[in-house]
Amino acid sequence: MEAAKLLKKLDKEDFRILMAIEIGMKRSEYVSVNNIKFYSRYPREETLFRLKKVHKNDLIIRNTSEHEISYTLNSIGYDLLALHALVEKNLISQLGPIIGKGKESDVYSCMDDNENIFALKIYRMGRRSFKNIKKYRDLIGERGHFSWLYVNRLAAKKEFEALKKIYKLKLNTPKPIGYNRHIIVMEYLRGKELVYYRSIDKPEYIFNQIIDQMRIIYQEVNLVHGDLGEFNIVVDEVGNILIIDWLQWVHSGHPNANSLLKRDIENVCNYFKKKFKIKSNVNDILSKFYQK
Ligand SMILES: Nc1ncnc2c1ncn2[C@@H]1O[C@H](COP(=O)(O)OP(=O)(O)O)[C@@H](O)[C@H]1O
Ligand SMILES: [Mg+2]
Repeated sequence: MEAAKLLKKLDKEDFRILMAIEIGMKRSEYVSVNNIKFYSRYPREETLFRLKKVHKNDLIIRNTSEHEISYTLNSIGYDLLALHALVEKNLISQLGPIIGKGKESDVYSCMDDNENIFALKIYRMGRRSFKNIKKYRDLIGERGHFSWLYVNRLAAKKEFEALKKIYKLKLNTPKPIGYNRHIIVMEYLRGKELVYYRSIDKPEYIFNQIIDQMRIIYQEVNLVHGDLGEFNIVVDEVGNILIIDWLQWVHSGHPNANSLLKRDIENVCNYFKKKFKIKSNVNDILSKFYQK
C-alpha cells in the first residue's frame, strides 16, 4: 500500500501541513495557501516548502484556477494522517497485505508491536461520485455538507460504535481495537467469507450460532445488523465464525428496524437452505427475537 511506505519518509512538519489542509476542508473542498499557513501556524517559507514536498509525494491536489493557489487532500494524504495517528497511539506498527476489498472499503491486515495481527478497514466511500446519495444522507443527516472526508470518518465512527456495544456480549464479532478518522482496527479472523465455502462442517451448528447471536445482540444491546448475509460472515478452517461489516446497523427502535431484521434473518435462512439444505422458519425465528 502506498501510504504505508510514505509514513517513514514524512516529517512531523509534513503531517502538520496535511492536518492544516484537513482543518480547512471542513469549510471548503480546496484550502488557500494563506489559510493553510494560518492553520499550521508556520511561517510562509515553511508552509510553502512543506506544501511543495507533500505535493511532490502526491498527497495533495493543487488548484491553480483561482487567483490564489489552493490545495485539497487526496485519499492517500488522508490515509496517511489516519495511519500516522494509529501508529502514534501504538495501536499498530506495520501494515500487511490487503485481505479484502468491499464495496466501500479496503481491508488490510496489520500488526502491533507485540505481533498481534488485526484487520484494518479503510473507508472509501464517495469521493467524486456520490452515486448512492440516500445512503450518505442516512449517515450525515440533513444539515451536513458533502465532504468525502466527513462521510468516511462518520462511517468509521458508526461501525466502531457498534463493535464496541456488541463486544461486551463476547460473541463472534470483531473486538474493536481502535479507530482514527476513516480507519478502524479490529480483531482479525484468518478465513474467508461463508459464500466461498463449497462445504462446511456442521452447517446446522453454524447456522444456529449466527441466529442465536443475532438474537442476543438484538435483545441485549438493541441492535440490528442491517447487511447480514453470506458475504459478511467470515469462517476459518476449523469452523470459527466472525460476523463483520457493521456499518449499516440500526437501533431496534428505528422505523426500519423490523424490516431490516427480517431481511437479515431471511438472507441467512435462504442461504443455509439453498446451500446446505437446512430447513428453518423465518417467522418462528423472528418471534423468539421479540420474546423476552
Ligand atoms: N475482521 C475481519 N477479519 C477478517 N477479514 C475481514 C475482517 N473485516 C473485513 N474482512 C474482509 O474484508 C472484506 C470487506 O470487509 P467488509 O467489512 O465486509 O467491508 P464492505 O462494507 O466494504 O463490504 C470482507 O468481506 C472480508 O473478506
Ligand atoms: Mg461486506
